[in-house]
Amino acid sequence: MLSEKMLSELNEQINAELYSAYLYLSMSAWFEDEDLPGFAAWMRVQAQEETAHAMRFFDYINERGGRVMLGAIEAPQTEWKSPQAAFENVLEHEKKVTSLIHKLVELARGENDYATETMLQWFVTEQVEEEASADEILQKLLRLKDSPQGLFMMDAKLGARKTEGEGGE
Ligand code: FEO
Repeated sequence: MLSEKMLSELNEQINAELYSAYLYLSMSAWFEDEDLPGFAAWMRVQAQEETAHAMRFFDYINERGGRVMLGAIEAPQTEWKSPQAAFENVLEHEKKVTSLIHKLVELARGENDYATETMLQWFVTEQVEEEASADEILQKLLRLKDSPQGLFMMDAKLGARKTEGEGGE
């Protein structure tokens, strides 16, 4: 049985993951509007991954006999001043998610909830990857500054990203 506190925090995490999906979908819409379809496609895949993260928590709560309770999802930002600003936002957001996951691990440890702690290990590893991929793209954007040609090439590369299970990143 999940403790009441753990159940409530896991439900909160579903909300945080769905908010992440919403944020990246909003970025996808913004990139579409900026005529950068590759960046838009990358964000769309990212949004799908975040929904899958939410569903991992959803399924886990059900498996443990808990009750999933969905709350309102906050409206995301809709405009960014540049692709670089958008990816700074991604990195900052992923760092926040990492700290939420770490807090969940601490709670699970404090409660000797070994099953939840084990489930969370996947997310600990995933967050390392999420931060690294956001940072890698950000560093490239910083290097090419405002070169339209560089941005065009990066757009073509990012557009090749596939969803998980399609042999992509
Ligand atoms: Fe689900 Fe990007 O953290």
